[in-house]
Amino acid sequence: MALRTVQNTDITGKRVLMRADFNVPLKEGEITDDTRIRAALPTIRHILEQGASLVLMSHLGRPKGEREAKYSLRPVSARLQELLGVPVSMAEDVVGDTVGSQAAALKPGEVLLLENVRFYKEETENDIEFARKLAQLGEVFVNDAFGTAHRAHASTEGVTRFLPSCAGLLIEKEISFFQPVLENPEKPMVAVIGGAKVSSKIAVLESLVPNCSTMIIGGGMAYTFLKAQGHEIGTSLVEPDYLDTARQFLQAASKKGVDVILPEDHLVAATFEESAVPETVDSVEIPADRMGMDIGPKTIRRCLDAIAKARTIVWNGPMGVFEFDSFSTGTRTVAEAIADSGAITVVGGGDSVAAANQFGIADKLSHVSTGGGASLEFLEGKTLPGIVVLQD
Ligand code: 3PG
Repeated sequence: MALRTVQNTDITGKRVLMRADFNVPLKEGEITDDTRIRAALPTIRHILEQGASLVLMSHLGRPKGEREAKYSLRPVSARLQELLGVPVSMAEDVVGDTVGSQAAALKPGEVLLLENVRFYKEETENDIEFARKLAQLGEVFVNDAFGTAHRAHASTEGVTRFLPSCAGLLIEKEISFFQPVLENPEKPMVAVIGGAKVSSKIAVLESLVPNCSTMIIGGGMAYTFLKAQGHEIGTSLVEPDYLDTARQFLQAASKKGVDVILPEDHLVAATFEESAVPETVDSVEIPADRMGMDIGPKTIRRCLDAIAKARTIVWNGPMGVFEFDSFSTGTRTVAEAIADSGAITVVGGGDSVAAANQFGIADKLSHVSTGGGASLEFLEGKTLPGIVVLQD
């Protein structure tokens, strides 16, 4: 299926309605990470260079259909203006006469940012009348909100029923890295999958199996796999309801010839605390009163060997409790090896992106996704409702 993109759609001199994902983290009203705003800049610049005017919309947080000052996009408009070097005016509302007149008055090169679309419950309900009102604000719709592409909301999906629609450069780029991972990666491909829960990653593991030669499973979810194999995991995180799933997955992966690397040794602690004293356990078995917090040195070496042979690496989820300094070695060493591998490296999911930033290696990766849930669903092989409507 071919994606309609902003580069092959005529937007010259038009009023473009663009959905971005400006759902950025805020602390006391200050943006703490503007990656998502920066990621939208190429599309915004491209649109303005075509002599178009621009109405931007986004959500921020989950305000549940009510206006709440802490979820206002005002800080975003200020940061966007700074980064873009062009004035960005801020609408007080999302729809209505005033916003309509502001949009209609835009001249080529001018930018208007609407308030948080989730101030209306009709947004997440994908209300058709609300979508129609949004659509009236532009002549062409460009969706560049990859991070929200897994939501069928009025501003992502509904609006496409009323306007000629296409994808922005960010969505195009995200797809260009994720699609090959699922369809035809340069082989061998190594998947590095971590995080707390089997339940939230099992679908990704299953969808990556056909193209992987090696799968590294770390983080909290690894202990459920180890328990499923009959090992002692002490007080480590476990999902008892997923032991069968884990066992079946390991059998299926082995049948397909995938080498699954699970922790063979560990860094453990008595309690889940930053100040906990790390102890190395040189065995797969964890003592009854200890919990696994990170992969151990033997496991790290096996991971590095696999990573060194890879031509494609997809990474989703940390190897241990990397937020705690004493338990960050596994994630950091693996992350650095991924960054230095020379392979095509694709990273998705909030935690691994945070880890890549924390270890200062994000710039060395081929692609760091702006999507959390969206990148996960993409990797699960699901159809993303915000993207499918942009395809012919
Ligand atoms: C995200 O941060 O993953 C996206 O902006 C989507 O946000 P949501 O999970 O609140 O829909």
